[in-house]
Amino acid sequence: MHLTLRQLEVFEAVARHLSYTRAAEELHLSQPAVSMQIRQLEEAAGLPLFEKLGKQIRLTEAGDEFFHYSQAIGRQLEELDEVIEALKGVQTGHLRISVATTANYFATRLLAAFSQRYPGTTFSLDVTNRKALLEQLTRNETDLVIMGKPPEDLDLDATAFMENPLVIIAPARHPLAGRKSIPLAELRDEVFVAREQQSGTRIAMERFFQERGFQLKTGMEMTSNSAIKHAVEAGLGLGIVSIHTLELELEAGRLVVLDVEGFPIERHWYLVTTKDKRLPPVARAFFDFLMGDDAAGLMLPGVAA
Ligand code: PGA
Repeated sequence: MHLTLRQLEVFEAVARHLSYTRAAEELHLSQPAVSMQIRQLEEAAGLPLFEKLGKQIRLTEAGDEFFHYSQAIGRQLEELDEVIEALKGVQTGHLRISVATTANYFATRLLAAFSQRYPGTTFSLDVTNRKALLEQLTRNETDLVIMGKPPEDLDLDATAFMENPLVIIAPARHPLAGRKSIPLAELRDEVFVAREQQSGTRIAMERFFQERGFQLKTGMEMTSNSAIKHAVEAGLGLGIVSIHTLELELEAGRLVVLDVEGFPIERHWYLVTTKDKRLPPVARAFFDFLMGDDAAGLMLPGVAA
């Protein structure tokens, strides 16, 4: 059977979308060009690969077989590409990295140090919340993710690389500011400005209070840590944030960390990939960089000052 990789690529797109139009759009081809490639492939196979069902198309039995093999061949070609890139070293390469909203407070610093080490590399950084990160991993839309501990029932590899303590913040004038070992019970009348439901910080905070049978009063919800810090400063309530989001606020005395029993909530930052994913060389290099001694100096302190 004589066929070309291009024909297989076109076939794979039509079979995936079950639409000539959408495959043509994806491949930036005209629809007649797509139809011609499929016709030629069907001639080479000697069997039809699609059949018409009214306005829809579906795969024939031979089409199913072609789909299976064209996907496997596509994956092998991607792997070949990666191996060749690896042979060239990590001189070039594009890293697709996604990080939790909170991790953005340090991710750019880590990426900057990595870029200095590997000047030919580029990266795209997506900053989003925990739920969106897990979706990206399941859809294989990113190489590496930095987030809190992912759920164990998903097929993911997670490696902890830095502590991520969550602390309670209050405006400097708050009556509890400066008190030592405040019992949790004293927070009963306090309202908390909380992150959105899909955030890792929010999930960890709710779990902490639930485990202690504490009825948490949440007021406003905000999707950014800096909005929470501003709200707390303005007296809208207490907040729970990662210590890594507190930079100048503590130094400038605009916010204080309350010394509450059981706090900080001990969390860690994880580097997460889909299980057994063969990382592109640049992603592997970033992974090794974060785990190595050179990055140790860039890690943030684990405990509140
Ligand atoms: P978040 O994630 O920014 O979605 O809250 C941080 C975390 O998981 O601790």
